[in-house]
Amino acid sequence: MQGVSSIFKDETKLDMSYVPRDLPNREKQLKKLKNHFSGTLSQGISRHVLLYGDIGTGKTVTAKRFCQMISADAKKSGKEIKWARVNCMDHLSPNTILSAVFEELNIRIPERGFSDEEMLDNLRRYLKSRSAHLILILDDVDAHFKKYGCRFIYSLTRFNESFKLKGYEGLSLILISHDNLLERFNPATISSFGHTKIEFSRYTWEELIEIVKQRVNLAFYSGKVNDESIKLIADIASVWGDARFAIELLWKAGKIAEENDDPEVTPEHVRAAKADTYSVITESKLKYLGKHEKLVLLAIARKLRRTGKAYLRTGEAFDVYKVVCEEFGESSRKERQFLDYLKRLHGYGFIDLKISGAGERGRSHLISLPDIPAQVVEEKLREMY
Ligand SMILES: Nc1ncnc2c1ncn2[C@@H]1O[C@H](COP(=O)(O)OP(=O)(O)OP(=O)(O)O)[C@@H](O)[C@H]1O
Ligand SMILES: [Mg+2]
Repeated sequence: MQGVSSIFKDETKLDMSYVPRDLPNREKQLKKLKNHFSGTLSQGISRHVLLYGDIGTGKTVTAKRFCQMISADAKKSGKEIKWARVNCMDHLSPNTILSAVFEELNIRIPERGFSDEEMLDNLRRYLKSRSAHLILILDDVDAHFKKYGCRFIYSLTRFNESFKLKGYEGLSLILISHDNLLERFNPATISSFGHTKIEFSRYTWEELIEIVKQRVNLAFYSGKVNDESIKLIADIASVWGDARFAIELLWKAGKIAEENDDPEVTPEHVRAAKADTYSVITESKLKYLGKHEKLVLLAIARKLRRTGKAYLRTGEAFDVYKVVCEEFGESSRKERQFLDYLKRLHGYGFIDLKISGAGERGRSHLISLPDIPAQVVEEKLREMY
């Protein structure tokens, strides 16, 4: 392959790990974070916050950008704010979470490992010796919470008290999850964590246009992505309100144009990118689902595929869900809980729900899969389960 691209100026600006300086349409969330942590910056007071919202709504990137900014501000006034982000999907237990924090902070641990208490004590010593405050981002904390509940989170909110830390040193938490986890915390944890939460709503079409345009300017040579292509990307991604999907489409469309030696990215490349991307996207999204959410989705996909219809009713879906649970040796949840799962699947964008027409008994919903073939969903879920 030739080394120099005629389309991409800097492809790394489309990496998922890249953190842009400005985050269009997340100014409000950044401002809230800044206000919330103002006492941390000035005096090292511990503050905690939950960021929650659907997939690809900018939670992770906003938390990272905020931490970059606050630690730079601290530096300017001769103080030290360290930050570390741990993804709880990869590091589920308290011990692996703490090991990941140590790795991020370059603190060495003995090969035999440490107990949780020893880890926390070492962290205390590290922070005390530098008079540093640590902001710990526990990303995708839902995964940890599902398995371990509040206990570890609670102990982190008590970190300063437990170790009688008084100066600038201490620990603050930014938790990130898909839904409002605070509702599921026990009273002791809520009282220690506080009630602050910041919502990240799905991006609208207009917002996605801005985000995509920013990446076009950063990653492509001027004039290489036409406006129609940007609009089409926003059209496709606004079904989910997902900036990640939009950026992946942009990148992939660029690659397809490049491979074909075409002079610019056109809607045709975007369409080809979409066809290529959706299964990957779906797979990455499916990972986030809990066991019963997966079973509900599997039931829906299976029924839709077998009947060849566009919609099914909630009652029918509940019946198939019970059968699927039996097949997988799980005990099915009550109908109320099932309806909650449906709402969540709707929130994540996996299914569409609409109230069924007049004359129907009760308030039944019609369920459909918006743009992923039922068979693909079923296969992926089966592989994963
Ligand atoms: N406002 C924004 N401006 C620029 N880029 C954005 C913005 N919001 C999100 N992005 C980009 O979109 C992608 C997805 O964002 P991010 O990873 O922060 O989403 P998320 O809410 O953490 O999603 P998930 O719940 O799947 O982890 C990233 O590449 C990020 O840089
Ligand atoms: Mg994230």
